[in-house]
Amino acid sequence: MTAHTPGAVPATRTSPYEPLELYGPGFAADPHGHYRELRAQGPLARVRIAPGIDALLVTDYQAAVDLLRDTDTFTKDPRTWQAGVPADSPVLPVLGYRPTALFTDGAVHARYRDAINDTLALIEPHLLRTEVARVAQQLIGAFSATGSGDLIAQYARLLPLHVFTAAFGVPPQDSERIVRGIAGMMNSAEGAAAAYADLVGVVTDLVADRRARPGRDLTTYLLAHPAALDDHEAVRQITLIMSAGHDPTTNLIGNALLHMLSGTGHTGSLHGGATTAHEAIDEVLWRDPPMANLGAHYPRHDTEFHGVPLRAGQLLLVSFAAANTQSLPGLSDPAVRSGTGAHLAWSTGPHRCPAKQPALLMAMTAIEQLTSQLCDLELAVDAAELVWRPGPFHRAPAHLPVRFTPLDTLPATDTRSTQEGVDHTATRVGGTPNG
Ligand code: HEM
Repeated sequence: MTAHTPGAVPATRTSPYEPLELYGPGFAADPHGHYRELRAQGPLARVRIAPGIDALLVTDYQAAVDLLRDTDTFTKDPRTWQAGVPADSPVLPVLGYRPTALFTDGAVHARYRDAINDTLALIEPHLLRTEVARVAQQLIGAFSATGSGDLIAQYARLLPLHVFTAAFGVPPQDSERIVRGIAGMMNSAEGAAAAYADLVGVVTDLVADRRARPGRDLTTYLLAHPAALDDHEAVRQITLIMSAGHDPTTNLIGNALLHMLSGTGHTGSLHGGATTAHEAIDEVLWRDPPMANLGAHYPRHDTEFHGVPLRAGQLLLVSFAAANTQSLPGLSDPAVRSGTGAHLAWSTGPHRCPAKQPALLMAMTAIEQLTSQLCDLELAVDAAELVWRPGPFHRAPAHLPVRFTPLDTLPATDTRSTQEGVDHTATRVGGTPNG
């Protein structure tokens, strides 16, 4: 079966037996056409995620849930699979092993996960909202007088990083290195290892500093957590939180803004006013989840799953996007889905996203700030001309060019800092802010 969006680039496959490619411009231009084609092969389909790297992609909702919850059959540890992958493969920055919650199982995972959950739980919602508004104000102020901008490069990509670095107490002079490190991990296969190493380096300095001089920030709390992480473990979990949090939050903001600016029945501007930030985020989490295909798992032994034979150690990915949009009775009906919370955008099972609430709050506040201050925002190009970042894992517009009436000054907002925000949480673990 081949059913593509009219005008979209057809799925890339050189013969009917070749796995469908998920990394080229064809997939980025029409992911849902690809998912339809993949679903026709059954609950799991062969895909190619980089030259020479194949995976089985789970597109069926029930099979996805079963896989994500079955810790007896599947492991998150990629090392058996990774042994057969070239060290310079572009998928390793995302899938390659690191000693973090994301790549561990059982008791080791539970220990890291408890420390991460309890640390993130310290983020006070109203103070996070205030901090996001402060950062938003700064970012909007940098381009509001010009009447045009790129909402990805100048807003959605910068905002989560500034919020994370402040919350973890990163000294201002190191924030830029964090920003560069995370961007480098995402942007180029060649630079990814060096970028990750630099990120680990700057977080290592941060952890050493907070051991010596505890502050009132999330780093200090993580170090004081009863899980008693050593420095190396703490560095890796902080690096995970920042890198796992950044790209999907950027993409959630970008995808939801795009939905508001180009949604069905609207005019390519906010003037229609029909879609709220909440509705746009909800729609995006169902239809275009920021992490479209991930949830990497590996069978612990040869087995059969939903009728498909699996080899020990082979790579399985979950298509959160395909599973969400599968036509199950009731699932695709907006009236039924709204409020059920049953989409898989945050995954499910022991490795589901631990940051759903703060991520939603960040995205919501970022969008509300932008759309309330630049209230006649409109896309500067036709939505059909927008370019999507290629790659098998994410769903992300590369740019979001907009125009609006230039502002001389921004209306004042409450701009207390995150440092103050973390002070007001339960984080009372000694010391003065930033040591
Ligand atoms: C504040 C922002 C965020 C932070 C700090 C964050 C952090 C994390 C961490 C630490 C994990 C690993 C959990 C584990 O292995 O036990 C994770 C997993 C995940 N997160 Fe988030 N996240 C954020 C935003 C988002 C957003 C916006 C989305 C998409 C809507 C998302 C979707 C996911 C998914 C699907 C997984 C599972 C990945 C997998 O199974 O391989 N996250 N997140």
